[in-house]
Amino acid sequence: MSLAEFANEPVFELRRASERAKLTRALEQLELPLHVCVWIGDDRRAGDELSSTDPGDPERVVAVAARATPAEARAAVDAAHAAFGAWAATPVTERAAALLRAAAWMRERRAELAALALRECAKPWAEADADVCEAIDFLEFYARGAIELAGGAPLLQVPGERNELHYVPRGVCAVIAPWNFPLAIPMGMTAAALATGNTVVLKPAEQAPGCGLRVVEALRAGGVPAGAIALLPGEGDAGAALARHPDVATIAFTGSGPVGLELLRTAADVQPGARRLKRVVAEMGGKNCIVVDADADLDEAVPAIVESAFGYAGQKCSAASRVLVHAAVHDVLVERLTGAVAALQVGPADDFASDVPPVIEQAAQERVRDYAQRAAGEGTIVAARNELPAAGWYCAPVVVTGLPPDSDVLRDEIFGPLLSVESVRDVDEACDRIDALPVALTGALFARNPRTVTRVVARSPVGNLYVNRSTTGAMVGRQPFGGNRLSGTGTKAGGGDYLLHFVEPRVVSENTLRHGLVV
Ligand SMILES: NC(=O)c1ccc[n+]([C@@H]2O[C@H](COP(=O)([O-])OP(=O)(O)OC[C@H]3O[C@@H](n4cnc5c(N)ncnc54)[C@H](O)[C@@H]3O)[C@@H](O)[C@H]2O)c1
Repeated sequence: MSLAEFANEPVFELRRASERAKLTRALEQLELPLHVCVWIGDDRRAGDELSSTDPGDPERVVAVAARATPAEARAAVDAAHAAFGAWAATPVTERAAALLRAAAWMRERRAELAALALRECAKPWAEADADVCEAIDFLEFYARGAIELAGGAPLLQVPGERNELHYVPRGVCAVIAPWNFPLAIPMGMTAAALATGNTVVLKPAEQAPGCGLRVVEALRAGGVPAGAIALLPGEGDAGAALARHPDVATIAFTGSGPVGLELLRTAADVQPGARRLKRVVAEMGGKNCIVVDADADLDEAVPAIVESAFGYAGQKCSAASRVLVHAAVHDVLVERLTGAVAALQVGPADDFASDVPPVIEQAAQERVRDYAQRAAGEGTIVAARNELPAAGWYCAPVVVTGLPPDSDVLRDEIFGPLLSVESVRDVDEACDRIDALPVALTGALFARNPRTVTRVVARSPVGNLYVNRSTTGAMVGRQPFGGNRLSGTGTKAGGGDYLLHFVEPRVVSENTLRHGLVV
């Protein structure tokens, strides 16, 4: 099987009226609500215990879903376990071909899928389109990666001995996904597991069952057998039951820190009857900082900070929530940020002019508002947009300065449009503050002196550091993505070694000094 070199799926050029019209048409034609079943093999159990709604118009139901029970989670793992042998034995080129056909299925429906992500998770058009493109990228990238990995790894050879190292799939993979990249993240984890010959039970986020359904439909349309991929719409209890099952070999999780830590504990608790140690791939939250040195180009820094902190209302794991700026340029940066935030348009995701969409749900709105109130009590609010649309879970974008060093606002992942700015003596003090954090996902540095860049790069603990650009928008194959410390298990989605987490190595050494001949 010879494949063209991997290239990222190009995003729609939204400055073109024709592209915008195509997307708007797709949104109008979206037939809602979607009906999402518990889908195990060829069995579907319909239900309406769970529903997702449009965060910009909570009266609009986007998907009505069955809510998987713990018993269904166990049944899904049993089915995936039974299907494992056949999928693992399917030649890697056939598995890869199924993923590539799933990518083609998504490519044909790009506008429709972006419209669904927009409705279900209030992803503005550019972000929704990028989400679909990233899902396609993961399919294309891991299909190629699995073929390469099937060649094994070279070993030292000596006369009279043949040594081989092969990678084999681990078994059933439980994929537990968040809502903020409702297509790309579940597809990425699932595609990696399937490409390498594992079977998958996917538990999408309860806020995004409709997108979860499309992920599984794409894979099945591409030719992944029914037994190899199950869909388990549901809440945390379904995810917990799934992860606990002794036949789950790998837990691929992306989500919040507390849930990730619970899954690591679950994996460490070896169940009676278990025949393997569970491996956990966990990508969790952060507290992402942008350092701005005195010589930074503020024309570059200000828009990048605004995009990092307020794009998708600050609901990307990579979003910036702290700026640590050299005292010499603190005041001018704050003044310019204040102006930039005043110009932000808070509005519905389907308005091409909106900069800040609503947050995902009411509980998130309450959480963000609570932190904004605490910030106002402890520091000085220098920028806030208070005129918000009436319906929908909108939060005003806020910039706060002068917080005390022990403020929760400087420590917790708020996951909303709230940015704090701190004045520091120099970049070393900024590095000290960043080093004190237990999480280390993304970060950025704005500086023009190459020696400063080298110093900060050497001291930075984060998984993804960006120099003179925003903290968001990692691309498959270009910026393998994932955090360190309590932000994750150190894996890099969209990177060359990601697939290694879904396989186990086996070494065979053969004595080739045969004596005599057996006929
Ligand atoms: N590092 C990354 O790559 C990355 C990417 C996206 C999101 N995130 C993080 O995800 C979080 C936002 O997503 P979220 O709100 O969906 O996270 P979440 O942890 O609340 O939920 C994630 C998934 O876990 C499930 N879940 C909840 N409780 C569970 C339990 N006890 N056992 C098993 N599964 C359980 C949920 O149903 C959902 O499917 C943020 O913290 C963000 O930083 C990280």
